[in-house]
Order: sequence, then C-alpha cells, then structure tokens
Amino acid sequence: MCGIVGLVNGHAVATDLVTALGRLEYRGYDSAGLAVAGPGFAVRKVAGRANGLIAGLDGACAGRAGIAHTRWATHGRAEARNAHPHVFEGVAVVHNGIIENHAALRAGLVGQGHSFASETDSEVIPHLIAAARAEGATPVAAVRAACAVLHGAYAIAVLFEELPDHLIVARQGSPVMVARGEGAAAVASDPTALAGFCSEFTALEDGDVAVLGRDGVVIADRTGQAATRMWQAVNAGEVAGALGNYGTYTRAEIAAQPDALRRTDAALADVALPEAVAAAERLVVVACGSSLYAAATARGWIEALSGVPCDLEIASEYRTREAPLSRGTVGLLVSQSGETADTLAVQGMLKSKGVPVVAVVNVAHSQMARDAELVWPTRAGRELGVAATKSFTCQLLALVRFGLALGLARGTVTSCKLAKMEREIAGLPEICGAAEALEPQLTAIAQLIALEGEALFIGRGAGAAIAAEGALKLKELSYIHAEAYAAGELKHGPIALIREGSPIVVCAGEHTDKTVSNAEEVRSRGACVIALCGAEEAPRFQAIAEHTVVLPGSGLGLVFAQAVAVQLISVHAAEALGRDVDRPRNLAKSVTVE
Ligand code: AGP
Repeated sequence: MCGIVGLVNGHAVATDLVTALGRLEYRGYDSAGLAVAGPGFAVRKVAGRANGLIAGLDGACAGRAGIAHTRWATHGRAEARNAHPHVFEGVAVVHNGIIENHAALRAGLVGQGHSFASETDSEVIPHLIAAARAEGATPVAAVRAACAVLHGAYAIAVLFEELPDHLIVARQGSPVMVARGEGAAAVASDPTALAGFCSEFTALEDGDVAVLGRDGVVIADRTGQAATRMWQAVNAGEVAGALGNYGTYTRAEIAAQPDALRRTDAALADVALPEAVAAAERLVVVACGSSLYAAATARGWIEALSGVPCDLEIASEYRTREAPLSRGTVGLLVSQSGETADTLAVQGMLKSKGVPVVAVVNVAHSQMARDAELVWPTRAGRELGVAATKSFTCQLLALVRFGLALGLARGTVTSCKLAKMEREIAGLPEICGAAEALEPQLTAIAQLIALEGEALFIGRGAGAAIAAEGALKLKELSYIHAEAYAAGELKHGPIALIREGSPIVVCAGEHTDKTVSNAEEVRSRGACVIALCGAEEAPRFQAIAEHTVVLPGSGLGLVFAQAVAVQLISVHAAEALGRDVDRPRNLAKSVTVE
C-alpha cells in the first residue's frame, strides 16, 4: 500500500508531484508529504489527502528534483509526523512496503546516538543511508548498504541534498516503476501517475537500483551489473477515471459495467488455452477480498462446465499452509490490481513448484500479469473507487469464460450447451443495465439497513458467494457490521444474532425451496426479509418477505444482477450515513503489504 512518486525535471517539480500523488491515492490516503531539493530540502507534510499539500507550496519549494508519498498507515497513527518523506542528515526517503526488522535496526541506531521523529518502520532507512554515506560510501553504495540490512518489502525513492538533480530508487518485493522522457525522469508505484511527465516506463525487478537524472535512467541489478528492462509507453488514456454525471467514481463504475463486460468478452475471444492449462486435472483458485468472492461465485460454474475440481483458497492462508499439490494442478489467481502481496506470494510459491499459473487480472502492467504463464484478462478499465464493482462482474465473466474454454478443450461442453451459454453471456451487459434501473427500490432498502445499523446476507450456491460480496461491500463502504452465511449454516449458530427487525438480504436463485425455508426460519424470529430474486422465484418470496426486488435475468444473469444490486445497496447505505464512498476509512485499493 502507499504510493510513492519522484520527478527530476528542468523546472520546479513540487506542483507536479502533488498532481501525480493524487493519482496514487487509491493506494492509501492517511497522510501525504513531499521533499524537493535545491538549495537544501523543502519538506511539506499533511495528515489526510495529497491536495492538502498545495497550501504549503511556497517559494522554498522550487527544487527541480523531488519525491512524494501518500500513506496507508502500517506503523504509527495517521498523523503528519508519521508522513513520509523521512529525512535525516541530507537524505530524504519515501517508502512503500514494510520493514520487518525495523525495531532491531532502530534500537541499534539509537544505541549509536540517533534519535527518531516518527513511529514508522520506514524512518530507519534514511538513518542507515546517511550512516553509510558518512563512512564514505557513494550515494548509490550507501543505498545498497542500507538495503542489505533491511528485511521485508520495500520500494524506496531517495533524494540526497548533495545530489539536487538526481533520485535513487531501489526495490525488493514492492512494485515500482521508473520512467523517462524529454529531459526528465521519474519513479512511481503505478505508471499511470506519470502521464504527461514522462513517455516511457519500465518495472524494476527485485534487487534493482536505478539512478534517475535529466539525462536518463541507469538501472543496475542486485549484483551491480547494468540491467536492461523492457520499456513501454505510459498510457495517458488510463489516467482519468470517468466520473460522468455521477458524484463518485464508485457509482460511475457501477454504471460502467455493461461496457466493461463487452470489452472483457471481446478481449477473451482472442486468448487460447495453452496445452498445460487445457490439461488441468485440478485447479487451485486463489485470491483475496472481492476477488476471492468472485472466484467463489464462479467455482461451481467452472466445475460444471469443465468437470475439473476447483480448490478455493484464501491467499494469505494458502501461502503458508504447504498444501500438497497433486499432478496436473493449475493455479488460477484472481486479482483486480495484480499487486496484492499475498496473491503474488502464492504465485511465486506455485511457480517454484512448477505449477502453471493463469492470472485473471485487470491491470495489464502488473507484476501478476508479467509473471503469469497465461493472462486471462479482464478489461474493466481503471477502477478508482476503492470498492471493487465493475472489476468484480468482469471477473465473473472471465471465470465463466475460463470454465467454458476448459470445458471445450476437454470436450465436456456440448454445442447445445455452448450455444445456451453464448446467449446468456451476450445478455449480461443489458441485465446489469436493467438491474441498475432498480436503483430507487434499492436505495429505499439501503436506507432501511442504514437505519438498522446491521445486516445479514444469505444465499445458496453462487448466491452464498454473492451474499459474501454483498456483506463485504456494505462493510467497506458504509462501515455497517454485516455478515454473510451459506443459508443452510444459519441454524448452526448465526441465527442467534436475529432480533426483531434484523435486515436479512436473501440472494435467491438456486435451490429455491430450501432458500425459502431459510427465509421463513429467520422471519419467524422477527427478521426483516429482503429478497433479491428473479421473476421465477418472486411469488414465493413476495409471500414472506417485507421487500422483494425482482431482478432481471435467471441463472447466470441473475447472479450478475444481484452483484449490481448489492453494490447499489452499499453505495446508498454509505451515502445515507455521509461516508466518503470513494475513499473509505482504513482502506486502500491494492494491498501491497502482507
Ligand atoms: C474490494 O472492494 C476491496 N477493494 C478488496 O477486498 C480487494 O478485492 C482485495 O484487496 C483484492 O484486491 P485485488 O483484486 O486487487 O487482488
């Protein structure tokens, strides 16, 4: 988490740094800061969002090289004193990642008479660099010396007071890009931040150290040898998310789902399964958060279409479990950002065991896409809202397409089944649009839930996974405590949570008889039943539910409509409670730390 950026240019860079930092806020917005060099350092820090820095930019901020940071707090409160850059004896550093041995390093430095101004793990870095510099190491060697004792993950950009026209960048674990342009160079956690400042970028590999100057970028690998990296164009078109007539990016991205689905389906038409994947005998499906719930929703579809068993795994648990891997296993990783640390760690683990990895990923230049045997892309476009919306439904589509492709390769999908699936998939964009049109009814339900201050979501089959996604969306956007259960699990304990008026959202559609019974069980304890169902099941629920939302579609289509419905319920519950829908508290869009 955290976003770092740095610029070297022929003119003052402070304002450009704030612009670029604003584009990285999806990575964390607890505090922000910048430092520019020449003469001396001008350092500015604020709690909260990057644009808070603008007021502090004065004549002292005339430096032509600078670094900046937007923070997701891991160590130390979200206060200005813990904001980056951390500065010590002419060395300023911004850091993304976690230094696991920071306490021991800090104790050692304090023992040598150093004193610290913040509670962060990152502040040890400028102290270590300055100490090596004081012992005569060159700036680059001093950065390498510091990196050599750091344990954990880091991407750092370093500004030396004595080098007012250069930056030094190092990477181990955390993603970072360096960029170049006409008389300029830059560094950023995400290349889209650099549109308009540089024209080309490349991703640093672990152990790389790069020196950035107006004359270009020099990269050396972990051995100090000159390294050649693949450069690609900075895609300016990717920068601005489209707000349209909506008040928030999250709401705009909900409306963007029909087009995102069309783009994703078109992109998948050109991707073929390599033999190693088509021959899969078992899939281990791994992800985090909403991506995990997309995988959970689609697991049954993939198994039904291909006959290949799918093990669904939470990345942060799977990476440390040493699970046995049977022959013919293929890894299917799902991620919007392609940067989630736990999912990347699983990718590295599977790779080290020779297991081919398919990455269902939305960010084409991400680490996960670069390292995968096969990229099975989603084309949701840039998602600026922290909450996954359009990326979620695009993942559902990509996963059902994957099941279909695997089934066709294995001969388990008949032409009749294929034709039926093609018709259903072709109708998904319209179904999402039609579900969105039910916004007034969904808003009323959201206001009811906001009033009650709690909610349970239940379902069966894919409905159980959509229920989990619904509860997650409501939690992360409105901060209302919500839980989700497979409907059949309620009786085994959670039903004790129900009181008079407890809102229960039922994601119906599969095993309707059993789901209706579950709804009746909670209703008989006074719950307020809210059914999200299709026209076919509606009469059954209208008889027992306080609120029945008759969604478009059935089967696959109904699940997509339910995804849109729970997104809208969550956005409106958050708005009813005055929450910042695009920048929910304590969250960041991509979780690059463990
Ligand atoms: C979802 O709304 C959240 N932003 C979060 O749960 C997210 O899905 C999770 O962090 C996984 O991210 P990824 O898809 O980028 O790997």
